[in-house]
Amino acid sequence: MNEVRTAIVGMGIGRQNARGIMRNPRGRVVALCDLLENRMHEFAKELPEEPKFYTSYEAMCRDPEIDAVFVGTPNQWHVPVALEALRNGKHVMVTKPLADSLEAAQELVEAAEASGLVNMMSLSTRFSDDVRYLGTLREAGEFGEVYYGHARSVRRSGIPNWSLGFIERGGGAFRDMGVHVLDSAWWLLGMPKPVSVLGTAGAKFGPRGQGYWHFSQPPQDFYSRYAADDYGGGFIRFEDGTGLQVESFWASHQPDGLQIELFGTEAGARLSPLTLYRTVCGAPQDVTVTLPDGPQAWDHLAAHFIECILDGVECQAPLRHGLIVQEMMEALLESAETGHEVCLNGAAPGAPLTSSAQARPAEGAPA
Ligand SMILES: NC(=O)c1ccc[n+]([C@@H]2O[C@H](COP(=O)([O-])OP(=O)(O)OC[C@H]3O[C@@H](n4cnc5c(N)ncnc54)[C@H](O)[C@@H]3O)[C@@H](O)[C@H]2O)c1
Repeated sequence: MNEVRTAIVGMGIGRQNARGIMRNPRGRVVALCDLLENRMHEFAKELPEEPKFYTSYEAMCRDPEIDAVFVGTPNQWHVPVALEALRNGKHVMVTKPLADSLEAAQELVEAAEASGLVNMMSLSTRFSDDVRYLGTLREAGEFGEVYYGHARSVRRSGIPNWSLGFIERGGGAFRDMGVHVLDSAWWLLGMPKPVSVLGTAGAKFGPRGQGYWHFSQPPQDFYSRYAADDYGGGFIRFEDGTGLQVESFWASHQPDGLQIELFGTEAGARLSPLTLYRTVCGAPQDVTVTLPDGPQAWDHLAAHFIECILDGVECQAPLRHGLIVQEMMEALLESAETGHEVCLNGAAPGAPLTSSAQARPAEGAPA
């Protein structure tokens, strides 16, 4: 095998991932799958070859001329589609978040790891050049010990209004956008094992029909089905003593912004604008870094997925990472609901899977 014949499920974010694959000399997009045929036919005009079209992912997964499947459906369909692909011997790449619940994420990771097939998260923030640059510095020891992080993703008015999947159970701001900064910050901290999460979350705009993208007003029968968070924030404590504060807002009375701050013993950093903070000869030194234009995150993702399949390279973003991030997200949301800190003893890289979240009553709370 010297090329990867890929099928793309979901013609939203699937298009970006497909472009990355078709820009790779060893990648081909041979099939598209969506419930909406017009979306597939519109996108097919960009492809260098005529793909096959499927409206059923089950039928698509039975196609022997497909090696790998990208899953880009609404959250609630990630696990059913990826499981079907694995059952049919296809390598899988899944968009974020891994799943709509911790249980579904665990089921998928168990199946993926038992299959021996390549399984990878599509993480456009972790694979962006600025986050990768900070990761390279961290690996080189430039920050010393990185002992604290702060990550946030804030929109003034950005609740997605084109798919019910975003606002129904299993959707929400934290699983949609918090997941990106949480994953990237956790990766930059060196992927420590999470041990406890304290969170707060709610929906202050969406159920009132406010805060949607471009101030467009979705119909009431859309927003009356709101069953997720539109903001969430919390604090995650890790086994090695590292701490991470993380927040995400789909809508707020605050300016837009995506930020990750790293606190290290030898240096610190901010993602936007990309800045390093050191003390040199006793004086503070701030360095703003301008990275040369390079390939997009989608190209890095596609290249890595393809090299894992064709060259046997170890995957740097396996679904297990998505599971650990899911565990932290679900704990944050659970903590918000129960008012208690949630203790975790679960799915650190390489550790066996357990169903792990355990709510611990806050001191003084009724038993
Ligand atoms: N940067 C990123 O990585 C990024 C950005 C945006 C969205 N996403 C993720 O992508 C997913 C989809 O979001 P979107 O914005 O692309 O939504 P979208 O609504 O634009 O696209 C989803 C598509 O999936 C199709 N679909 C739904 N159920 C299906 C099924 N059972 N079988 C086949 N097709 C089905 C829909 O018809 C739709 O065309 C979400 O999980 C979201 O978190 C990731």
